[in-house]
Amino acid sequence: QIHPVILCGGSGTRLWPLSRKALPKPFLPLVSEETLFEQAVRRVAGDDRFAPPMVVAGAAHADLVTAQLSDTPGARLVVEPAAKNTAPAIALAAALLPRDAVMLVCPSDHHIADSAAFRAAALAGAALAAQDYLVSFGIAPDRPETGYGYIERGAPLAGGFAIARFVEKPDLAKAQHYLASGNFSWNGGIFAFRAGHLLDELAAYRPEMARLVAEAVAEGREDGTRFHPAAEAFAAIAGDSIDYAVMENTRSAAMVPADMGWSDIGNWAALADALADQADAEGNIARGGPVDLAGCKGVFALTDGPRISAVGLEDVCIIVSGGEVLVTTRDGAQAVGKLPGAVNQ
Ligand code: GDD
Ligand code: MG
Repeated sequence: QIHPVILCGGSGTRLWPLSRKALPKPFLPLVSEETLFEQAVRRVAGDDRFAPPMVVAGAAHADLVTAQLSDTPGARLVVEPAAKNTAPAIALAAALLPRDAVMLVCPSDHHIADSAAFRAAALAGAALAAQDYLVSFGIAPDRPETGYGYIERGAPLAGGFAIARFVEKPDLAKAQHYLASGNFSWNGGIFAFRAGHLLDELAAYRPEMARLVAEAVAEGREDGTRFHPAAEAFAAIAGDSIDYAVMENTRSAAMVPADMGWSDIGNWAALADALADQADAEGNIARGGPVDLAGCKGVFALTDGPRISAVGLEDVCIIVSGGEVLVTTRDGAQAVGKLPGAVNQ
């Protein structure tokens, strides 16, 4: 069986004002009636090739996770005493699993349109992970996005490729070069590891982090379906992402290509793209309360109550939520997280 590990962290400021610190992106029903977190759980549920999920989340969101997990038998929750980025979060889960367990690390704030393609890729990745590859899932890039990891394809392997090079968040010039070369995929942020192998690799590249995670687990406390790592050891960790801490350094990385309708819903324009099938003939999408659009094209409008009325706009997002109003062009949506309202919420 594959052991799903679902990560819940981050603040999602680029989806402000809907996404707030107390109710961040994973816990919002963005694409369907279900929240992104519930969709992540559902994607690996009801299929006996997958064990019940282990969720790793911050203490502030533990009760939200428990509420949204309500109908998932056997799920476990690891409650992080502090946010230390993905490497420690993943290492906690690895340390709580048997060394030979194959873990499938899944972000909780992505949209994947094709669940069957996701599961097929996961199985191919798990087979490589069992042979001690650190497996990432590759997405075909369509723009020089600088917020992602880039994977250079190496020699072919069963179900995928060796990774010749892994570059996390390159600058724009490098991203353009990688895109043009045709040899690179984006890292989808989903990983398959044998738990013991991941811990050994972490110990090689970040020995102090590995030691402190082991200590936090050894001195941690089990409480029903929740596990609380020891706060003192965990707080002493210098945080880092799995991409920088391990994937850029390892010599045993592999990539499984995954064509599964992936989007990390990084901003309002990306959400509008993911909802394209709900657009009217003019490409407008309206969600929530009353929306009246006249002579508009490519407008995404979402309101939790007040009426939105707009005339003659093109490629604009209008969001009304919790007494805040956001108006941005689709192209400008990436910068929303830097607005004072999003920063000082
Ligand atoms: N439990 C926990 N604790 N989860 C966390 C933490 C943490 O401290 N920090 C982040 N996460 C979760 C986020 O909620 C998200 O689901 C996932 O881990 C990835 O974190 P992000 O902060 O969103 O990473 P990123 O978007 O900058 O980059 C990663 O994802 C890209 C694809 O979306 C990298 O893996 C990139 O290489 C990749 O391309
Ligand atoms: Mg992300």
